[in-house]
Amino acid sequence: MSDAPRQIEVLAPATVANLTVGFDCLGGALDGPLERLILKRCKVPGVKIVAIHGAELPFEVEQNVSGRAALSVLEKLGIAGTEGVELEIFKTVLPGSGIGSSAASAASAAFGVNALFEGQLSPADLLECALDGECVASGARHADNVAPALFGGLCLVGGAGCEIEHLPMPDWHLAVVHPQIPILTEAARAVLPANVPLQDALGQMAQLGRFISALHCGDDSKAARLLSDRLVEPCRIPLQPEFYAVRSAAISAGALGGGISGSGPSTFWVAPDQETAQSIGAAIAAVFEAADTANHVHITKLSARGAHIAP
Ligand code: HSE
Repeated sequence: MSDAPRQIEVLAPATVANLTVGFDCLGGALDGPLERLILKRCKVPGVKIVAIHGAELPFEVEQNVSGRAALSVLEKLGIAGTEGVELEIFKTVLPGSGIGSSAASAASAAFGVNALFEGQLSPADLLECALDGECVASGARHADNVAPALFGGLCLVGGAGCEIEHLPMPDWHLAVVHPQIPILTEAARAVLPANVPLQDALGQMAQLGRFISALHCGDDSKAARLLSDRLVEPCRIPLQPEFYAVRSAAISAGALGGGISGSGPSTFWVAPDQETAQSIGAAIAAVFEAADTANHVHITKLSARGAHIAP
């Protein structure tokens, strides 16, 4: 490892989890925003967080998503007692935004430590380590944000969390709108029922199957129109600022489909072209401005690129 770089800078994408139709099992990487992490080898074994920019987060390694994921990689590589890494975290994907903040932190740290020490961890091992980090924030090992943040693209993740299918990526233009009212994933999971009616589960299963079939047929518009959820989104709408007005503005401006991004408060809306995505973003921003709610509009696309070394 002596020729390995002393320092690297890693970027990891924001993600939209669930994509409405696949709670906890579907997620896609976005072109942006991108989380940034600088990793530096140091003499003291273990992980040290030296700076956090853009958010107030714990510096204790075990309580910090990036720190926990980084430590898991050192442990999995068997070098936690001999090698050390310092992390400088730049939070561009804001906590509580619903676009995979913790996943971007976990993925950048897991990918970065493996790269810094020229580790040979398998994708499944990397995902496990990143999930150790994600779990710190959300209290659950769901990989629907973490898998696309690590590997890019549109991912279907299995029940145990570590079986991944890469789905065909639709050529959608997206308006992702983030009202600046944080909703923590843990809180948005606390409102969900432990059990759901069999008919609702069957209906949702069929909807997800039809969505995946549309992707494989290359019918991106049909796939967008199949973005609906009867299991989870109805329970979360009361937490979502202005949801009905936002949805109506999005549909009137030309959205083919969409809904809550991850556990909210961001929503994502699919457009057939960039101009329509911009109109949708502007229409939703107007809803929030009328309600005096600060918001941020991202016009973006799904991206095949996951965590990577900064160019
Ligand atoms: N699938 C997770 C949830 C994503 O909806 O709780 C969290 O961003």
